[in-house]
Amino acid sequence: MDKLIIEGGNRLVGEVQVSGAKNAVLPLMAASLLIDGPNTVTNVPRLKDIETFKKLLRRMGCEVASENKGETLKISAPDSVKPEAPYELVKTMRASILVLGPLVSRFKRARVSLPGGCTIGARPVNLHLTGLQKMGADVAIEHGYIVVKAARLKGAKISFDIPTVTGTENLMLAAVFADGRTTIENAAREPEVVALAEALVKMGADISGAGTERIRVEGVSELKPASHRVIPDRVEAGTFMVASAMTKGNTLIKDCPLGHLEALTEKLEAAGAEIREEPEGVNVTGDWPVRSVDIKTRPYPGFPTDMQAQMMAMMTRASGLSVITEEVFENRFMHVGELKRMGADITVDGRNAIVKGVERISGAPVMATDLRASASLVLAGLVADGITEVSRIYHLDRGYEGIEKKLGSLGANIKRVKR
Ligand code: UD1
Repeated sequence: MDKLIIEGGNRLVGEVQVSGAKNAVLPLMAASLLIDGPNTVTNVPRLKDIETFKKLLRRMGCEVASENKGETLKISAPDSVKPEAPYELVKTMRASILVLGPLVSRFKRARVSLPGGCTIGARPVNLHLTGLQKMGADVAIEHGYIVVKAARLKGAKISFDIPTVTGTENLMLAAVFADGRTTIENAAREPEVVALAEALVKMGADISGAGTERIRVEGVSELKPASHRVIPDRVEAGTFMVASAMTKGNTLIKDCPLGHLEALTEKLEAAGAEIREEPEGVNVTGDWPVRSVDIKTRPYPGFPTDMQAQMMAMMTRASGLSVITEEVFENRFMHVGELKRMGADITVDGRNAIVKGVERISGAPVMATDLRASASLVLAGLVADGITEVSRIYHLDRGYEGIEKKLGSLGANIKRVKR
């Protein structure tokens, strides 16, 4: 298994390009199941999760052509698609659940493995399923699979208890061909939800309200293929912003979607970073010592849970005490144990992590446990004394395109060792 070896101490200086957003590509790939195709998706990042989704689509009988070294995908889903998503693919990527809505919508049935237990909390899919039931689908759990049948989905009023991102996307995808109007209340407002709605509208769907708490979908009888450019990855961009701020760096982040990063920008500025929008990108400079800030994760537009671990890495060396509260997932502090092994002073109390900034942290062998936790260990390695060895980086490869190359080009001392 590959490892990353990082020698801490370098300031990050220079320019870096942000890739397309993983969490925006996957719903677009799922949307391609709604039509014969070919649907075109560009600005696709080269990531493990995209490869897994391609495999899943091909397994179901879709044609997936990769062009421009994978930057462009052309997806066709013929009528002969077998609407089944097997366990061995779904277990490696929870977002595979996104095929459920479009499959039921177009093929009237679906058999999709239940996503496995996930390390960052229970992460159930009950809201996806009750939504489909409200639309008239017959939903059963059989031998670890979600089995859904619906001769015809009907428009319905769906109100989420929690604004679920993939749940909102799944039900939008399900509703495009339904009879009549579907309303999703307490919908997720993430930019990736808006991007999916815009893509579906381009394909001929009738959707309004994406980006607000109420989304309306009027069923249509057909869609046509279209071409979609994936929005920049706000989490990757945010990770570079934090990296720059915490290394007292000076970086220009190109294709940085600052408008999607307001909550993070506010916290980084409070911690002493300077963030300026320039014609070429976003300039982030860090100041030292970092001032401690409190953080509470929330659904968008609140502070993103996907940036919590990276901010915690930054707070390990801040001046003072920082309280980090994880409100979205109940068990998303796996990075704490590893950061403590590097000398961080962190106490977890339920959903709160109390981080007491220390003068220095020291490099150590650490293990990645999930995607964003892995990023936090890399960031900690950038400011630690000596060498940090991050193992199990397949988690990082799921969501960050060439992270060692990008950080290396900014002057970080980081290399990948193949095993
Ligand atoms: C998506 C993102 C992930 C991000 C998360 C929260 C993708 C592919 N992944 O994940 O990177 O961390 O949003 O911003 O876009 N819940 C239920 N029942 C459900 C569904 C969700 O109780 O049926 C709960 C979850 O346990 C969690 C909360 O709702 O506590 C939000 O989760 P959700 O928005 O669904 O996360 P994902 O869509 O899986």
